[in-house]
Amino acid sequence: MMETFKIKGSTGESTLLIGEKLKNLKQYVPTDEAIIITDEKVWDIYRNDFPAWPVIQIGTGESAKTIETVESIYGQLLAMEADRTSFIVGVGGGIVCDVAGFAASTYMRGLRFGFVATTLLSQVDASVGGKNGVNYQGYKNIVGVFNQPEFVICDIDLLKSLPEKQILSGLGEVVKHAVIADMDLFNFIEANYQGILALENRLVERLVHDSIVIKSDIVNQDEKEGGVRRKLNFGHTFGHSFERITGVTHGEAVSAGMMVAAALSEKKGHLSHAEVHRMTGLLCRLNLPTAFSTDPTAVADGLKKDKKRSGDTIHFVLLEGLGRAVVETMSIADLILETEDILKA
Ligand SMILES: NC(=O)c1ccc[n+]([C@@H]2O[C@H](COP(=O)([O-])OP(=O)(O)OC[C@H]3O[C@@H](n4cnc5c(N)ncnc54)[C@H](O)[C@@H]3O)[C@@H](O)[C@H]2O)c1
Repeated sequence: MMETFKIKGSTGESTLLIGEKLKNLKQYVPTDEAIIITDEKVWDIYRNDFPAWPVIQIGTGESAKTIETVESIYGQLLAMEADRTSFIVGVGGGIVCDVAGFAASTYMRGLRFGFVATTLLSQVDASVGGKNGVNYQGYKNIVGVFNQPEFVICDIDLLKSLPEKQILSGLGEVVKHAVIADMDLFNFIEANYQGILALENRLVERLVHDSIVIKSDIVNQDEKEGGVRRKLNFGHTFGHSFERITGVTHGEAVSAGMMVAAALSEKKGHLSHAEVHRMTGLLCRLNLPTAFSTDPTAVADGLKKDKKRSGDTIHFVLLEGLGRAVVETMSIADLILETEDILKA
């Protein structure tokens, strides 16, 4: 069943189409033809479902999320004689959407664009919020713009070809949404984890839908991340550090990052031991990691790397109970000190 959801941002309105199909893409593009930006893997698997439109292919992985890739897209757009009337569609995961959204937003001061999100992570997270951008000099997402895609198609069937790791990565962010804002979703995942892991359409559609509701509700209150939007960073402070050190997927790293934040919440008396235990249980059932045996010094170094971007203090997200997040301003030095024993345990 298809569900439509509208999000209003300062840069425009975005229509989220949950359960719509890639092969119906043409219906949503306001021009006769669009230019598609996709990656090699998605092109290989789904080229027959693409409309017969010009295609720009990019590479895969974070190393393709660069200014050089965007430059190459500008060159190809020029060669195709793309102009202010052209429409761009990014078909792919978070990387394709981030790159395509950035290229579309900057070429000729901005072309209209939409996305077909093909990974669980891009459907539950990257599809909402209007952030587009690329990595630069080892820093993730350091160059970019806020700009809403006109539409995002979340075709659940496309997830069937995703490697398991990529499913887990998306599930990490879904659990994050539940834990920071929605106990009903938490209970639903607990009750249906087997069907979710088997990618039953009805269950996955609910995860995508609820994630979009939670994220868009938060983003609508604070589009440019000056306050409540910071809650979406739950698990990400340590998550980013784990991601760098271990090379696991984003959502897996966030999963273990959430457990560090949960343990700190317990230590500060905000969260009960039973609640922490319930979180661990759910992540384990979903085959998500709850800890990494990493060197605490390396993890601290990772936090200090973030410091370069944010100064000596950090807006760290804790839990005040399952389903309720709270943002606390802490010095990075204190955070490292307070989590030393948690990381060693
Ligand atoms: N803009 C935002 O708000 C936002 C939010 C979250 C994440 N992100 C960004 O998203 C990126 C990660 O996105 P991702 O996890 O989707 O990774 P990704 O785009 O790298 O996709 C993961 C892999 O799956 C392949 N793939 C994509 N769709 C497939 C399909 N249907 N079947 C088989 N293979 C498929 C891709 O080719 C790639 O190899 C990060 O760079 C992150 O910074 C952005």
